Amino acid sequence: MSHFQPVALHHASRLVNHGPTVLVTSTDGSRRNVMAAAWSMPVEFTPPRIAVVIDKQTFTRELVAASGAFALCLPGTALVDVTYAVGSTSGREGDKFARHGIAARPGPVLGMPVLEAGCAAWLECRLIPEPHTEDAYDTCFGEVVAAAADVRIFAGGHWDFRADNADLQTIHHLGGGNFVRTAGMVRAQPL
Ligand SMILES: Cc1cc2nc3c(=O)[nH]c(=O)nc-3n(C[C@H](O)[C@H](O)[C@H](O)COP(=O)(O)O)c2cc1C
Repeated sequence: MSHFQPVALHHASRLVNHGPTVLVTSTDGSRRNVMAAAWSMPVEFTPPRIAVVIDKQTFTRELVAASGAFALCLPGTALVDVTYAVGSTSGREGDKFARHGIAARPGPVLGMPVLEAGCAAWLECRLIPEPHTEDAYDTCFGEVVAAAADVRIFAGGHWDFRADNADLQTIHHLGGGNFVRTAGMVRAQPL
């Protein structure tokens, strides 16, 4: 049973505010792919826009350019091995969903593959055409057109990292396959 519920677009930036490692998914209709990305961030509130670095050499970049869309899926700690694996091989060598038993379904607006099992949230994004992205940079900009999160860890527009949802807590890459789990929430109090 999925615990995913839609996230209001004005709360979408909160999903990536803390800089989690994401899985970038893409499809051109006949081919699909998934890769890891440590570098993503919100850049605009309304409409919600994000930036993610997708190397020009990747198969992901080829599919994103072909479809004009992608999704960011936020793996929980339970998917740390899968995250590292899909960030260490190319989809040009074979379908990574099949190889790693990753279940995906089409996103509601753009049909990008979205992952729910083991993930905390996803954002479906339309690529924003940007000449600098096409010519020089690996940074891609996207407008978030749909988002959803597992209510056991993100509800009412807020994350809630607790001892009982450690497997869903997002991860941050330190390099070389080492990650830290998002935990130890502290709440600021008025001074
Ligand atoms: C934890 C992790 C984080 C990564 N972050 C990024 C990133 O932010 N941007 C990027 O272009 N590649 C990043 N990579 C590398 C890509 O995931 C890697 O090149 C991948 O094999 C590309 O797959 P593809 O050719 O199937 O698209 C990362 C890899 C790992 C393991």
